[in-house]
Amino acid sequence: MSSRPLLLTDQDQLDRALADCRQQGRSLGLVPTMGALHEGHLSLVQESVRQCDSTITTIFLNAAQFDQQQDLASYPCDLQRDIEMLAAAGADLVFAPAEDIIYPEGFSDWVNPPGVAEDWEGRYRPDHFRGVCTVVKQLFTMIPAQIAFFGAKDYQQAQVIQSLVKTLDLPIQIKVCPTVREPDGLAMSSRNTYLSPQQRKQATVLYSCIEEALKSVAAGTSDCQSLLQQLNEMLAAAAVDQVDYVAIVDPETLRPLQQLDRPARLLLAVYIGTVRLIDNCLLPTPAATGSGDSP
Ligand code: PAJ
Repeated sequence: MSSRPLLLTDQDQLDRALADCRQQGRSLGLVPTMGALHEGHLSLVQESVRQCDSTITTIFLNAAQFDQQQDLASYPCDLQRDIEMLAAAGADLVFAPAEDIIYPEGFSDWVNPPGVAEDWEGRYRPDHFRGVCTVVKQLFTMIPAQIAFFGAKDYQQAQVIQSLVKTLDLPIQIKVCPTVREPDGLAMSSRNTYLSPQQRKQATVLYSCIEEALKSVAAGTSDCQSLLQQLNEMLAAAAVDQVDYVAIVDPETLRPLQQLDRPARLLLAVYIGTVRLIDNCLLPTPAATGSGDSP
């Protein structure tokens, strides 16, 4: 039976726990989350536990990164359940601050996201990455961890944060961990709980697109336009309610590619009903097929 992590809710408690950690010469891993934890989040905690002496998970529902108030209002939260799950995963500390600890009165230190935030999520959710970059910078400033862990599930977010760390020269290393999926391939997400049983079945089309893309690339397809058309047809056949984007991009700049003449990233964002789901995978170059990571 794992012991419960220490719950910290204010700056003093946080500072005391961090001082203990420092005095004992323990390395610290940080896993930022918004709560409503699932196996995807826990995989980051477990990786931190493997790589660092102590692991701190933050739980903060960051209103600044939500563009739809409805999405924010209905976001699932259950701190006690999250703490039980973090105990089982081996986290040592949980920082769950109130709004004014992260954004004190008169807060004005908003962070402009780097260029890699502009397209895709940035286009469809205009202030989203400004909110993400600001909260992540606040957390990195308050918690001097050596490594912070993020999920490849939110691929653009991970790229944005890596770029932010480089641009601002922040003294922290970023590790990006693989996407954890349900047995039928759907990427785990707190938003999956909003799907009706019928929509949940429909949502598997995202993973079908990933499988189809990998199969086409393995069969030698290298023209991005024709591959994208194929995937859009699959999404239409599954009657998804809206396609925000399906794109094949350079893995670092996130600029669209014409040809798969180097490894690329497939990015997808669709609505099933009112639920917005995103997914992505690495597309190896046709010649290198079989050597890519798992989607
Ligand atoms: P949240 O959606 O709670 O996700 C927290 C972390 O878990 C992110 O790094 C995300 O990429 C990762 N994650 C989510 N689902 C995953 C999955 N199926 N497999 C692997 N990792 C997964 O992302 C955020 O919160 C916020 O934007 C945050 C960075 C905390 C800033 O507020």
